[in-house]
Amino acid sequence: MIRLQKAKALKGELTVPGDKSISHRSVMFGAIASGVTEITGFLQGADCLSTIRCFSQMGVPVENDGSRVLVRGRGLRGLLPPAQVLDCGNSGTTVRLLSGILSGQSFSSVLTGDASIQKRPMNRIIRPLSQMGADISSVSGNGCAPLAIHGQPLRGIHYQSPVASAQVKSAILLAGLYADGKTTVTEPALSRNHTELMLQYFGARTESCGATVSVEPAQELYGQKISVPGDISSAAYFIAAGLMIPGSELLIRNVGINPTRDGILRVCRMMGADITLLNENHENAEPTADLLVRSSSLKGTVIEGELIPTLIDELPVIAVMACAAEGTTIIRDAAELKVKESNRIQAVAENLAAMGADAAETEDGLIIRGGKPLHGASIACRADHRIAMSFAVAALWADGETVIEDSSCVNISYPGFFRQLEQLEWSSFL
Ligand code: S3P
Repeated sequence: MIRLQKAKALKGELTVPGDKSISHRSVMFGAIASGVTEITGFLQGADCLSTIRCFSQMGVPVENDGSRVLVRGRGLRGLLPPAQVLDCGNSGTTVRLLSGILSGQSFSSVLTGDASIQKRPMNRIIRPLSQMGADISSVSGNGCAPLAIHGQPLRGIHYQSPVASAQVKSAILLAGLYADGKTTVTEPALSRNHTELMLQYFGARTESCGATVSVEPAQELYGQKISVPGDISSAAYFIAAGLMIPGSELLIRNVGINPTRDGILRVCRMMGADITLLNENHENAEPTADLLVRSSSLKGTVIEGELIPTLIDELPVIAVMACAAEGTTIIRDAAELKVKESNRIQAVAENLAAMGADAAETEDGLIIRGGKPLHGASIACRADHRIAMSFAVAALWADGETVIEDSSCVNISYPGFFRQLEQLEWSSFL
């Protein structure tokens, strides 16, 4: 449990941990490539460590000294049958992407995870992978993990995905590496494209056009050096705090600004935020920049449509930020939030209400009437890291004391979060 008080101006520089999506993929792709993949900036959060553990169970040597990860790839067809069930912990990315890879192997495996994972929808990958010829099923027959997979020869398909989900898209593309022909996915709106970028970097043939991406079957992928940029989803908490708390000025270094992930920056600008991008680097597939964030008078906005997948994980903290904005903020087309680590629409609405906000839950989003002061409250995180961190930000703006219950869930994506926040508050005070 963590207790937080209203903050004074936040000032200083910080670096956030590596991008979670890119960290997962760098280990997965390294594991099925030939040669060594060297990763720096890898996120040492519980989710990404689950990915490492799963591949270790399939005979992939991974050395992780905390600052550099070396993956000695076994090639596309060199993974060993796991002796035990593969435990993906809390990580949806691990279960879904790994399912794509395992569908094309020549062995059987079972994937599971924690209580939250065992409630999350897996039919969204079972359906397309089955169309490719995969033998994949939900062990309890409820469309959730545990999943049993018996590797099979796969065929290429063109899948029209009903959801904009990078996990669904990536599971299909990874299975496509093992298929007998081209595999194509079309999404209703483009989701994060780290898989397609990294597949290309590892030597696979991919083609993207709008919200459609194809991959050709591969004979071999080649190990690479990867420098993982800071996670914009982690930077989001400091962006929001910096904007909301009067007198703040924060420089957040080396943040990934891939256009399929930078929706929060676009929304902040729509809300009138003062954010400057410095040292922009577009030389690598994954662009980066330093973000200079200055406290701003915010105004309400509408967040909908194709913007949603580009900021899906940031919506809880955007909802918090909307409380400090003048006017109404409407979030719609975001029903996906209900099937994340928790039902995030409900979790945000309930916790905002506990803090005195004027926030209403809708079928596919939230309506927040800003400008009302927040007061401290006891926050139920529902074991969801993004709820814990979003409400830590709310706590810094609210009057009185806020208690974040079971705050250790932040370890999923941001192990040093509270320490970094405390250091920043302390150094800003000096
Ligand atoms: C992720 C994709 C998103 C996101 C999750 C990470 C990924 O999920 O919410 O935190 O790494 O591909 P969906 O693909 O289900 O939208």
